[in-house]
Formats: sequence, structure tokens, C-alpha cells
Amino acid sequence: MSAPDVVSYAPGKIILVGEHAVVYGARAIALPIKTGIRVAIAKLPDEKSGQGPIIRGVGPFLMGEFSQGPKSPKILREALSYLVEAFGMPMLDLAIVVDGTLPPGRGLGSSASLSVALIRGIFRYFSKSLLKDELKKHALALETIFHGQPSGIDHSVVIEEQVIGFRRSDFGPQIWPITPIPELKFVVGIVGPHDGTKNAVRELAERRKRHVSLYDGIFLGLDEIAQNMEEALKSGQIAKVGELMGIAQGYLNALSLSTPEIERLCTIAKRTGALGAKLTGAGGGGAVIALIEGDGIDLQRAFLEAGFQSFITEVFEAKERRTDG
Ligand code: PMV
Repeated sequence: MSAPDVVSYAPGKIILVGEHAVVYGARAIALPIKTGIRVAIAKLPDEKSGQGPIIRGVGPFLMGEFSQGPKSPKILREALSYLVEAFGMPMLDLAIVVDGTLPPGRGLGSSASLSVALIRGIFRYFSKSLLKDELKKHALALETIFHGQPSGIDHSVVIEEQVIGFRRSDFGPQIWPITPIPELKFVVGIVGPHDGTKNAVRELAERRKRHVSLYDGIFLGLDEIAQNMEEALKSGQIAKVGELMGIAQGYLNALSLSTPEIERLCTIAKRTGALGAKLTGAGGGGAVIALIEGDGIDLQRAFLEAGFQSFITEVFEAKERRTDG
């Protein structure tokens, strides 16, 4: 590929409270993280013109070359077809390099980050201005390919680039910024990939059918945690945020979304001095987020001794607040 004509970047995300409950109307809080995905777009060399778009993954997030051809995974073929349909024949001349350290399938917003970086990059490449609503529309379409029926929290926080409260309603999602927020630092412990958000949401719906009022009571509890956490964030009470994360984890465990590995990492995190720890995203695997004070090195070492990789991340701060997409 020749030198990229444009590059774009989108952060990953973590959900502090409200995953799954958000599907049933509870409030959730999500934040963008510094670890994210970069996309570089250039014209394919002349001999390959018309054979694109070709995606080349060069980081641990995505490795290898993918096209609309039958050898590529179905989900990527569908995403590329969507882009060709949405942006027309000029897409067939594009080479797209995807680079990033965000591990996929861990509830860290890798597909939302990829979707948003791709759309921003494509608009930039074709020198078109991008309105936020347009970005949301395309990102939701790609997320629907990747996830089935997403609540929209993932791509919303990735697009907003700030800590948000999120709630589904009959009139569409309500999204509000949560500010000011204290400095927050996390050790993210990586558990095995989860079984897909789509499956996790479907299986939870099946379990709920057997205990509707109990499950709805838990969703109400998680909604209350989200309200309390919003206040704790705004007033800089980090220890309380950690405590609330722990209570949320208890509820997530009760919803059968936790695993022995997740529980183990949460225990290690608490024993090593983390303020709080919980799973994030779909659950059943994925990642554990531990809110820490200090540099987090001891906790990373403890995770590693238990056989788990981890990384340290913080809230992504946009250089300037975007007024467009
Ligand atoms: O895709 P994940 O692992 O970030 O999970 C998204 C959060 C869920 O509440 C489980 C699903 C949704 O669409 O909100």
C-alpha cells in the first residue's frame, strides 16, 4: 500500500455499570478509553484497482488481509458490502489498514471503535464533511452487522468521546455527558473471548423468562447503582465508584454473566488494593476492569502470576470537543 492519504482514530470503551440492564431500560455509564483503533486509508495500486475495498489488519486486534471474497469471515464481508453500498463504486479502489491493540471479543468496544474509525476515515478520504447523526447512522448499521441488535451504548460513547450516561427509551436513546469526572485509571485483565454479545443478550433473555420479576428487580438495582455512581463521579468520590462497581459485579454474577476466571480476577484485584473490579460488556468471558490508585504494576504482576494478560488504560480525552462527526 502506498503512503496513507488519511488516518483516523477512535477510542475503545468500557461500561462502568449497566451492561445488559441497559437493554431493559436501566441507566448505564460508559467511558471511552485511550486504547483504541487506528485506520489508514489509501488508494490501491493501479494493478489492484477495482478489487477493493481491502482491509489489512496489522495489529493484534486484526491480523491478515480481508476482502469481499469468500475466504474472508462472513461478518467482515457483510461490513465491507455495507460500505460499498453506502459509499458507492469508489470504495472498490480503497486499501484500508487497521491497527490497534484493543483485543476483540472482550467487551472493550473493538467493533464500535473500528466502525467509527472506518466511517470517519472514509468521509475524510472523500473530503466529505460528516455530521454526527450521519456517523451514528453508519456506526449503528455496522454495529448491527457485528452485534445483532445493539442498545447503541458502545458506538455512542465512542462517538461522544466523553463519559456518558445512557438510557434506552421508546423515543430513542437518551445520552448525557457526565462531567466533571475525576482522574480514573484501570487495569484491564483479559479473560478468554466471550461467546458474542448477540448470544449473551439472547441467553439472558431466555433466563429472564423463567424469573421475570427477580431479573427486573436486579435491573432496577443496577439502575440505582448507575444513579449513585453518576453522583459519585461528579463529586470525585473515587472510592465510592469502586465500591459501586463491586456491587454491580455481584448483580452481574447473579445474572449468570460472570465466570470463575472473572471472579478470580475480581478477587485478586480487591486483594491487591484495587478500589473495585467487575466484568465489562457482554460477560461470560471478556475482560475485568479494576479501578486503581497508583501505577497498577502490582496488580498487573498479580494477574500475570495467575496466568492473565492485562493492560493499563485511562479515560480517553479528546483534544477538542467535536461539533460534527
Ligand atoms: O459488546 P459488549 O461486550 O461491549 O456488550 C455491550 C453491552 C450489552 O449491554 C451487553 C449489549 C448492548 O447492546 O447494550
